[in-house]
Amino acid sequence: MEIKPITPTIGAEIIGANLENLSNSEFNEIEEAFIKHQVIFFRDQPLLSVDTQIQFGKRFGNLHFHPAAPHHEKYPEIFVIHADKDSKFADGNGWHTDVSCDTEPPLGTCLQLHILPPSGGDTLYSSMYAAFETLSEKMQYFLTDLTAIHESEHIYRGRYDHRGVDNSKKIFPSAEHPVICTHPKSGRNALYINPSFTTKIKELSDQESASLLSFLFKHQQRPEFQIRFKWSKNAIALWDDRCTQHFAIWDYWPNERKGHRVTIKGSKPFFKNKKLNTSQMKLSAKLG
Ligand code: SIN
Repeated sequence: MEIKPITPTIGAEIIGANLENLSNSEFNEIEEAFIKHQVIFFRDQPLLSVDTQIQFGKRFGNLHFHPAAPHHEKYPEIFVIHADKDSKFADGNGWHTDVSCDTEPPLGTCLQLHILPPSGGDTLYSSMYAAFETLSEKMQYFLTDLTAIHESEHIYRGRYDHRGVDNSKKIFPSAEHPVICTHPKSGRNALYINPSFTTKIKELSDQESASLLSFLFKHQQRPEFQIRFKWSKNAIALWDDRCTQHFAIWDYWPNERKGHRVTIKGSKPFFKNKKLNTSQMKLSAKLG
């Protein structure tokens, strides 16, 4: 297997992996690349059976069940990503981290696309490590004490009606997470807010919260934190939801784009104050 970084900040392509038959040592290498590069891609793959994709996902942890979206008729773990001429919206067409409104949001997501539009339908990925690390030390320190509210009612209510999902009696999840979260495997800190689900910073007034979120959402979208993945048939992307955001560009209507997504359940996000540098620690000590 060869691992080819796409930029120094985020993304790598894994060449020569056979996801239908991975040894433990190959899996460990893939997991290491996933943690390091935050999103990894596999091209020239066969169309994975539902079972194979589920088994691959399960090697990273238990699977996550989407709280609102339509799933595969036999396998609730499979979220069918689909847009065509009849679509009123397309999944992921805006910056987000998957289902950050859950108390235990996803660890990561594995998507294989089977049907592609003739052009377009790329997905952007952005590193939230880079977003955190490029803020000034004072801003980093200020953010480490704050809690963000993540909601989903405004996104999910009625969204999947046209795909036959009756969510009319459903209460959609909401959760509170630290604004800065420490990745449980890498130990790096990531800016864990996103413009789709994050509605407020709990400790601030409405006005302060709106201004700060507006600045941070803009900052997160700097092009140097991003890569743009141009899909090929049956390509697979595996992204780490704990330290990235993505945006699936819906520029291909009325054409069709379809695939299977398996999402891996994560744990409750936390902030561990261990990565603050010397001047941040001095500031921390001064402020008590
Ligand atoms: C998503 O899971 O947010 C959609 C990603 C994509 O379709 O590229």
